[in-house]
Amino acid sequence: MLTLDSFLEAFSQLEQDVDERLPRLTDDADVDRFRVEFLGRKGRISQLLKRLGELDDTARREAGRRLNELKVRASDAVTARESALADAELTHRLASETVDLSLPGVYPGVGQRHPLSAVQLEIESIFLRMGFDVATGPEIETEYYNFEALNIPAEHPARADWDTFYIGENTLLRPHTSPVQIRVMEQTEPPVRIICPGRCYRRDAQDATHSPVFHQIELLWVEEGLTLANLKHVLETFTREFFGEGYAMRFSGDFFPFTEPSVQVHIRAPGAEEWLEIMGAGMVDPAVLEAVGYDSEAVTGFAFGLGIERMAMLKHAIPDIRAFLTNDLRFLKQF
Ligand code: FA5
Repeated sequence: MLTLDSFLEAFSQLEQDVDERLPRLTDDADVDRFRVEFLGRKGRISQLLKRLGELDDTARREAGRRLNELKVRASDAVTARESALADAELTHRLASETVDLSLPGVYPGVGQRHPLSAVQLEIESIFLRMGFDVATGPEIETEYYNFEALNIPAEHPARADWDTFYIGENTLLRPHTSPVQIRVMEQTEPPVRIICPGRCYRRDAQDATHSPVFHQIELLWVEEGLTLANLKHVLETFTREFFGEGYAMRFSGDFFPFTEPSVQVHIRAPGAEEWLEIMGAGMVDPAVLEAVGYDSEAVTGFAFGLGIERMAMLKHAIPDIRAFLTNDLRFLKQF
């Protein structure tokens, strides 16, 4: 039998526990635990409510009123606490998601031209201004365009340097851009004035000035009355435009089956001791002109093959060609 006294004792313990716990509800888990312990169907308030029947009428009314008051107070407090916690979380989330529009943007960087591309474009633009057109040809070339049409028959010793990287019976990766001369002359009547930039492949061992894959710019000018003096003039004009003053140029004799006479051109940077070979050149051999159906009595021409890597090395004082190939951004970003 429950007496009023023992009810009051249990009630005041319950009220004390509720009041002690309410201010310490710091997160959703605390709130859930509180609900189960005090307000749930099997919670402590319900347990005590169930026992009210053991009291007499007057005591029961009084005890019921007080228990209900406590229940309402506790559940109001919990609801208020819950919404305060939700508010706090929202405020926190909004603060953390704030976009500061005054911050500098994130710049992804657009990159820049590789120094070899930049040099190639610069060379092209100089020759375009001088009235040359840009032509291109295939990197996989036939033996005919690469050799025979350039006056290099099958048994000629000059093939040894250049017959390499065969793709098929009759096709190879071109070791120079000279085959494009033939392709253009076959399609055009003189005068012809072209340059052709492109990639070349050789069996050369890699060292400071050689790479098995490199780039050349070929030049060909065929017209009435051209001589070696015109070649020299074009070259001097071009090198002055490209390098500026202070670079020295040296011509020396050489041999190419497709030019006669043939020369080799070296350039020396200001203050440097070393000469660097940059191109092979010469007057187009009459046999080459005749083979494409030109009248070698009526027109003459000159041609050269210029190494783009070597030009970039001279211009930017880069001692080793390998610097262009390693993709080191610290190097590339300097240009
Ligand atoms: C030739 O390739 C001839 N076709 C050039 C030519 C064209 C002569 C027209 C006459 C008329 P040569 O093998 O010397 O010639 O190469 C020309 C240039 O290409 C060299 O001076 C050099 O600058 C560059 N070169 C050649 N081999 C390499 C290599 N392995 N790595 C980097 N550059 C190279």
